[in-house]
Amino acid sequence: MKVSIINGPNLNLIGTREPEIYGHESLTDYLLLMSKKYPGIRFTIFQNNIEGEIINEIQRCSDADAIIINAGAYTHTSIAIADALRAVACKKIIEVHISNVYAREHYRRESLIAGVCMGSICGFGLKSYDLAVMSLLS
Ligand code: DQA
Repeated sequence: MKVSIINGPNLNLIGTREPEIYGHESLTDYLLLMSKKYPGIRFTIFQNNIEGEIINEIQRCSDADAIIINAGAYTHTSIAIADALRAVACKKIIEVHISNVYAREHYRRESLIAGVCMGSICGFGLKSYDLAVMSLLS
């Protein structure tokens, strides 16, 4: 199974960015450790701060069996990322958020990509990514 993990803006800073919300652990380290836990899965891990680069990566994912995406703040604003997810051949798409976006500012409550995804996982810290992988295996 090939699983593509796509992370959007500012997620390269997890570990130091607003630790009271996102914790102290680096997302890069967490995802590397997590991928070792699942030797049967081929992971591609991608992060970019630029909307168009995220779209380019989604377009490269046609042969993936699943996409796990945390689009960061673009979740709430990007019709273009939602359109790219609609267009990609891979139809198993899971939205992930580290924080509980429903317990935060009102503008984080709307996701433009949720409707394109099989499901959404949020609020479990970095474990949200692991829960997404587990959901693919069950
Ligand atoms: C986030 C939630 C978004 O609202 C925010 O802009 C992020 C991180 C999360 O993982 O909790 O950058 O996607």
